Amino acid sequence: MSYDNEAEFNQEEKVDVKLWKRLFGYAMRNRALFVRILVTMLIVAIIDAVYPILTRFAIDRFVRPGGDPDMHGIWLFFAIYVALVILQGFGTTRFIGRSGEMEMAISYAIRQEAYLKLQTLSFSFYDKTSAGYLMARMVSDVARLSDMIAWSITDFLWCGFYILFSFGAMFWFNWKLALIVMAVIPPLAVVSLYIQKKILRYQRIARKHNSRITSAFNEGIMGAMTTKTLVREEQNAAEFESITADMRKASVKASVLSATFFPLVVSLGAVGTALALVFGGAGVKATLGGTETFLGVITAGTLVSFINYASSLFDPIQQLAGIFADMQSAQASAERVLSLLDTESDVKDSKEAEEKYGTSMDPKRENWEPIEGDIVFDHVDFYYKESEPLLRDFNLHIHAGETIALVGETGAGKSTIVNLICRFYEPKNGRILVDGKDYRERSQLWLQSSLGYVLQQPHLFSGTIRDNIRFGRPDADEESVRRAAAMVHADSFIERQQKGYDTEVGEGGVRLSTGQKQLISFARVILANPQIFVLDEATSSIDTETEQLIQSAITEVLKDRTSIVVAHRLSTIRNADRILVIRDGAIVEEGNHETLLQKGGYYHDLYMHQYEDDAMQEALK
Ligand SMILES: Nc1ncnc2c1ncn2[C@@H]1O[C@H](COP(=O)(O)OP(=O)(O)OP(=O)(O)O)[C@@H](O)[C@H]1O
Ligand SMILES: [Mg+2]
Repeated sequence: MSYDNEAEFNQEEKVDVKLWKRLFGYAMRNRALFVRILVTMLIVAIIDAVYPILTRFAIDRFVRPGGDPDMHGIWLFFAIYVALVILQGFGTTRFIGRSGEMEMAISYAIRQEAYLKLQTLSFSFYDKTSAGYLMARMVSDVARLSDMIAWSITDFLWCGFYILFSFGAMFWFNWKLALIVMAVIPPLAVVSLYIQKKILRYQRIARKHNSRITSAFNEGIMGAMTTKTLVREEQNAAEFESITADMRKASVKASVLSATFFPLVVSLGAVGTALALVFGGAGVKATLGGTETFLGVITAGTLVSFINYASSLFDPIQQLAGIFADMQSAQASAERVLSLLDTESDVKDSKEAEEKYGTSMDPKRENWEPIEGDIVFDHVDFYYKESEPLLRDFNLHIHAGETIALVGETGAGKSTIVNLICRFYEPKNGRILVDGKDYRERSQLWLQSSLGYVLQQPHLFSGTIRDNIRFGRPDADEESVRRAAAMVHADSFIERQQKGYDTEVGEGGVRLSTGQKQLISFARVILANPQIFVLDEATSSIDTETEQLIQSAITEVLKDRTSIVVAHRLSTIRNADRILVIRDGAIVEEGNHETLLQKGGYYHDLYMHQYEDDAMQEALK
């Protein structure tokens, strides 16, 4: 998958039929709406094609060139005409509304699917893909595509029906004259397509230069100091001028072509009208004079209707060329959106696991074995990037109910071990056993429902404090929520909030401090009561009062469950049954605090550097 902007500029100019078929498929999901649009467009196009027929009828029936006018039945004709105008006005408002509806339906279908997809994708996907990229795909690309698809469908249906009926009428009136008039269509189509393509190309070039200008601006601003000290102003200005000149050239070309396009197509269409006039006119004259030309009988009404048809022929052709051009220019958006929908997750439940344990949308809880919490790393190899192996032949047995502290320098691999336990990533080689069975033989949901974690940056969802505590157990009653909050001493700060448990935390919990977010996360874990608890302690400093609350909260949460804690606080480390000292993805020392200190090894050094302050504070208490 390429996230490169360049892709848009270097793309093939051919329309990828398969790609568009898939996208138009989203429109077809709402079949009823599609049928309604189809019927509306059929009615509107028929009425458009019927007007010249009415004109023909009026001329030949009432005006009767060459004879006496006869006004018999004019009122009925008038009534029908008015009725058609009203019906068409009605149809027009309907199709505008329905196309809007279709646009929304397509956005909805694509976004729904993408949202589900994003929830199933593994962490490794999010490592490679920025939130900004995903937002741009989900918001602007999808909006652009659904707008384009919905209106292309409407336009395409109108063009199809209009061409069908107007050509049908012309052939019916006089097939020879119809063929003469239609001779302008091939050149019209070729010219339309050719110019549209050219416009697109220059627009693309202009966009490319535009992004170069943006980055030049960026560098210009960022590097202003350097520029000044190196006296490069003049050179930079010259470079910038040349980029902007290129952009101007391309933009002007695109505008000139756009400006030429419409008159050119209209003039070509006028040739059709001229042909109708010349040949048809001669035919009418002959008909009125008595001898027919090779065109057979042509009445004045027929001639007028042909002129009408010929002068509006360019409209559907131009629209069809427009749809084609839109598809070309939106193709890059389409590719990006579809490739996102097609991304396969690195961490996936196997077929067998899904069959037995169900999917995340439809879990078969009745088949789930209860989790004891015994975890084994069995010869595990792991890397994020193949060139940088992190864990090599890593072995570890964590017994059910045990509390393990992982300590080590930054980048040692502590969070990585935790990520593997949570199955956010899977081992590249070897196995991780939970209760004696490779966790890949069971479903992700099975593990993750029995697993509570508080990560380095605790995440809250927008909503109230209560919602956030209940996140893992939405059915929990008020009493249990409050009890959970009290157990981790989160109740006092919550009750101090103006709205108590109904306080909105803001998007991502922005309205709370890191310490408060952690307390709420702990309450969440207590309420969900998982068998396995994972804590990746934050290194950021927190005010002493909250710090103490958090310490006692941690002690509470660690009780009676298998706990893996990436520890930075001395108090947490002391709480652990076993300390594992991690260095470069391997366990270098193991034991409890006292024995490790006495050993005078790496832990001792680490302690001297990192926990000295902590120890000092503790001693002073
Ligand atoms: N998502 C990722 N993609 C690529 N490399 C990563 C990723 N996460 C971590 N790494 C790399 O793996 C190594 C171990 O990282 P890890 O996050 O496990 O360290 P840590 O011990 O938790 O450090 P800290 O104490 O700073 O949290 C580091 O070199 C890091 O750069
Ligand atoms: Mg970490």
